[in-house]
Amino acid sequence: MAARRGNGSIVEVSRLSASYGGPIVLENIHFRVEPGLKIGILGPNGGGKTTLFRVLLGELAPLRGTVLVRGSCGYVPQTERSRLDYPVSALDVALMGTLTRIPWWRRPRRTERLQAFDALGKVGMKELADKQFGALSGGQRQRVLVARALVQDAQLLLLDEPFSGLDSSSAERLSALLDQLTAEGRSILIATHDVEQARAWDLVLCLNRCQVAFGQPSKTLTRWVLQATYGGAIVAFSGRESGQAQFIIPPHHNDTS
Ligand SMILES: Nc1ncnc2c1ncn2[C@@H]1O[C@H](COP(=O)(O)OP(=O)(O)OP(=O)(O)O)[C@@H](O)[C@H]1O
Ligand SMILES: [Mg+2]
Repeated sequence: MAARRGNGSIVEVSRLSASYGGPIVLENIHFRVEPGLKIGILGPNGGGKTTLFRVLLGELAPLRGTVLVRGSCGYVPQTERSRLDYPVSALDVALMGTLTRIPWWRRPRRTERLQAFDALGKVGMKELADKQFGALSGGQRQRVLVARALVQDAQLLLLDEPFSGLDSSSAERLSALLDQLTAEGRSILIATHDVEQARAWDLVLCLNRCQVAFGQPSKTLTRWVLQATYGGAIVAFSGRESGQAQFIIPPHHNDTS
């Protein structure tokens, strides 16, 4: 199926289905994102958030439908503890972002090192450029990975649960960085289990293997949508001050192991 390129849209997904060779894990996904927006990707464990990112990155071919991404895509993966003992510095990790732009036979030069160093500066990690990546805190590692995506000059950033495990000051710092990046016209898809946080973003995409809803959080995050997204797992309670019904997702949905 052919997809139209929308007026100025940075990513356009049309009737997408995906699988890993077995059962379908994403079905009939359909959305479009303009520049300069933060979009929360919500869904339970196994709901297909990371799989959607893999399709957008071109790592997994769609089974059906089409995906168009304008420009390059920067990816900040879900935390992978197993890779933390590689002896690479924060600067090396940021420098990896340049590898997509230089020929395979050439090593990164001074220009690329300066770009990587600048990107570390932008995320507030210049002083720790020489420190071993695995010896950084979770929040610092997230910022280095954002720097790597910036070095790729990505117009679309895919952040897979970037806030999980961050303390509140690291989370605030990352939020401020995301505000800055969208103000520059980049769009950011953020997989998260934090529905309350996503309410402050521009759009939300609710996934539970199929697309439950897509739109502005205030209009989209209804009780019905949350129930269809998270099944019977959500719990409703009355907000003490507003008297309006609010919803929480039980803690096991934050468990990404
Ligand atoms: N490499 C793989 N091979 C086969 N199946 C996979 C693979 N990766 C994920 N899956 C399956 O695809 C489905 C969606 O998984 P995915 O990782 O996209 O979910 P998720 O929404 O990112 O979950 P979480 O919140 O736990 O990170 C799950 O049923 C999962 O078991
Ligand atoms: Mg995931």
